[in-house]
Amino acid sequence: MSKIAVNATETNGSNRAEYVSRMFGRIAPRYDLMNSLMTLGQDRRWRRLTAALATPRPGGMALDLGTGSGELAFDMAARGNRVVAMDFCQPMMDVARQKVVNKKGSRVYLVSGDALSLPFPGATFNAITAGFAFRNFADLARALDETLRVLKPGGRLAVLELTPPRTGLARLLHGLYSHRFVPLLGRLISGDSAAYTYLPNSVDHFPDAETLRQAMVSAGFRKVSFRRLGLGMVAIHLAEKGT
Ligand SMILES: C[S@@+](CC[C@H](N)C(=O)[O-])C[C@H]1O[C@@H](n2cnc3c(N)ncnc32)[C@H](O)[C@@H]1O
Repeated sequence: MSKIAVNATETNGSNRAEYVSRMFGRIAPRYDLMNSLMTLGQDRRWRRLTAALATPRPGGMALDLGTGSGELAFDMAARGNRVVAMDFCQPMMDVARQKVVNKKGSRVYLVSGDALSLPFPGATFNAITAGFAFRNFADLARALDETLRVLKPGGRLAVLELTPPRTGLARLLHGLYSHRFVPLLGRLISGDSAAYTYLPNSVDHFPDAETLRQAMVSAGFRKVSFRRLGLGMVAIHLAEKGT
């Protein structure tokens, strides 16, 4: 099973999308709990920071890509934005939908769709966020093209993502944490060690923070920067669409 998980990070297109969607479908009921345990609750702080960086002037129209259980979308809404929360995995959206029902008047609007082919006209959103979603996309360049297209001029993209660490010690710690601890925790809590083997593998196959910054510049974004968090294992990239 872990072999399939490794290979899934190396495939592109519809195979990858199908694998990712099915995998998140299996872990959806325990997804929030696993995140809290894996990050000792830090993931909530990282999402709030991402939302703050994405919207220095809140009150606009925002899009949260790969919204999953919706946590980052709710953080964006808490800042006064109207938020379209999009994902292609129905069981994850069901978890988010229950939260929309519980938090009446949240101004989070769930839409089913693919981040690689956004069902919106150009220049629709003031801000776009993505929490731990980009490394799951089958085509990074296409996802960046699509986000740039639907952003309004001057709008911001904020990408919160796990990132391969730079230094030897950080890499060693990251290896132990993500390839030993996370799959074990995944097996104990969600009963799905394959999913929690895919997740660290997907980090290993994702561009490092500087390469992702360059990809954003190549896609046409400007003012591209990033900051590292979580002992260098997490990064928030910020980018803007030119006016
Ligand atoms: C790790 S979860 C992140 C959930 C949430 N954003 C968070 O902050 O925890 C990644 C989500 O991205 C979604 N996803 C992956 N590829 C996608 C795509 N091409 N289009 C839409 N959603 C996608 C998955 O279904 C999954 O729900």
